[in-house]
Amino acid sequence: MKNKVAVVTGAAQGLGAAFVRKLSSEGAKVVATDIQVEAGKAVVADLGDYVRFLKHDVTSAADWDHVVRETERSFGAVAVLVNNAGIAMKKAIVDTSEAEYRKVIDTNQTSVFLGMRAVIPSMRKTSGGSIINVSSIGGLRGNKGMVGYDSSKFAVRGMTKVAALELGEYGIRVNSVHPGIIETPIIEQGDLANYIAEIVRTQIPLKRIARAEEAANLILFLASDESSYSTGAEFIIDGGMTAG
Ligand code: NAI
Repeated sequence: MKNKVAVVTGAAQGLGAAFVRKLSSEGAKVVATDIQVEAGKAVVADLGDYVRFLKHDVTSAADWDHVVRETERSFGAVAVLVNNAGIAMKKAIVDTSEAEYRKVIDTNQTSVFLGMRAVIPSMRKTSGGSIINVSSIGGLRGNKGMVGYDSSKFAVRGMTKVAALELGEYGIRVNSVHPGIIETPIIEQGDLANYIAEIVRTQIPLKRIARAEEAANLILFLASDESSYSTGAEFIIDGGMTAG
């Protein structure tokens, strides 16, 4: 990853923070972004001069333009984008308001479109790039109570394919990542805790949830040239949960 320039969204905690640490430890220059400013600054505080934090709402096209401009100014053209920011919501369809549904779609889905659109011109200035869209196993199969979340994650999987088809000729690879359950703050929300304990017991062959570091290793592979022939593909990291 030496000197590759990477942008990681949703980097103030959880998976995004783990991705920033991993990519920077492998020599990348990283721009970490999030709406949580203090937590985001804390993540990059001890990572040196080649890791910067920027405030960034992934639902805002103007914010995306700012992030790409600032990244180019600081480190050069973007080589890696990890579209990681996301929110979860568990509610039956009948109980979900239109505003709640739209918020999840905007944050998890529209953001990925905006992000890819914003970085493509920058990636085309170099010899190529890697876009990694963080979907979920909820983007592979439906789960009761996850209408907004699963809709958004299915869409991310779909737009990854479209982008891979459009961008292959420029040497830009685009893949989706489908985590099962990873230990981060997103799964600590009260209404999800019991649901997850039951899933571990009954549905995960490895009988545990994953550590963020394990997902970071997959992101590193996709960001690096080690994955040079993979594009338009789905990378599942779920302890075997979707094998059955
Ligand atoms: P998390 O809740 O710990 O972190 C998400 C980050 O996204 C937070 O720092 C939050 O401030 C940021 N964020 C939320 N809305 C934003 C916005 N509008 N603009 C910018 N940043 C925003 O979640 P976690 O677990 O680290 O999840 C990261 C990604 O992985 C998400 O896309 C999630 O759906 C996905 N994922 C996570 C799984 C898990 O078990 N942890 C399983 C499957 C997918």
